[in-house]
Amino acid sequence: MSENNNSFSKENIMKYKSKYISEDDEYYSKISKNVKIKIASSLTANKSEILSYLPYLLQDLWELGSSPEDMIYLIKKNIEIDSNTKILDLACGKGAISINLSKELNIKIRGIDIIPEFIEYAKKKAIINGVENKCSFEIEDINKSVENKKDYDIVIFGAVEDVLGTPNETLNKLKQTIKDDGYILIDEAYIKNKKEIKYDAYEYFTLNEWKEIFKKNNLHLIETLKSDINLQKEINEYNTKKIEKRAKELKEKYPDKKDLFDEYIENQKAESEDLEDNLIGVTWLLKKKNLKH
Ligand SMILES: C[S@@+](CC[C@H](N)C(=O)[O-])C[C@H]1O[C@@H](n2cnc3c(N)ncnc32)[C@H](O)[C@@H]1O
Repeated sequence: MSENNNSFSKENIMKYKSKYISEDDEYYSKISKNVKIKIASSLTANKSEILSYLPYLLQDLWELGSSPEDMIYLIKKNIEIDSNTKILDLACGKGAISINLSKELNIKIRGIDIIPEFIEYAKKKAIINGVENKCSFEIEDINKSVENKKDYDIVIFGAVEDVLGTPNETLNKLKQTIKDDGYILIDEAYIKNKKEIKYDAYEYFTLNEWKEIFKKNNLHLIETLKSDINLQKEINEYNTKKIEKRAKELKEKYPDKKDLFDEYIENQKAESEDLEDNLIGVTWLLKKKNLKH
């Protein structure tokens, strides 16, 4: 790696370990251990020690999980929207979903994430894309957001895994943020059959198990969009390559943390293999059943 690559400098690494990260102990020390472990695991890491390095490792990626195109397709096809439609994007990462949706559908979106650098990035991207008046972003633990955000038309939960608990707890909490006739858009993965999983940080459920959970929560499954396996493979390979390059830079600067970065890459690869072999990635559009009717 050449020193000419201006991204590979102590200064650049420090920029990513900047205002929040140099005080990372202070920022993350206010967050409970459980929440920290789940933030790490939502980004395929199993040690919260990696948290302060994630913005650096993921700096070349904008989309961190779900597909904006799939979400746009499902909304356009199934939901009547207008400029008053309000969307909540929980654990929005760097804002790729929020910004693309707002731009394409001309709607208001509120994005929430717990990683300060991601929110900072999302705000900049909103300005670049001319949607800063429609997209607003906030640093918050979504475990709190589900208690204080109400009356949205649609809530988006894209590739956030078990941050809000079990699937049952998650859907129950998401329901509290939307209107009686509101929608949940969730990017998830179900297991084909209970084969061996390589990245076993989460418990995966079968499609039938998920359908039972929808029923139990009075949610009507409007449409399922399966992710394209070839496209998924391409995206995974691209992402892993980018992350590996950044991990290599970090290992050179912080040789004592080599194992931490190596393990992160291993997890990344294991999860990609699972997504290609054992799991079906899906975006589900669910509607809250209005019990009054
Ligand atoms: C795989 S990324 C998905 C990002 C985005 N939804 C997307 O699909 O591109 C998971 C996100 O969950 C966020 N996250 C994890 N725990 C959180 C929490 N307790 N509160 C808010 N955000 C959280 C992480 O910071 C990360 O941005």
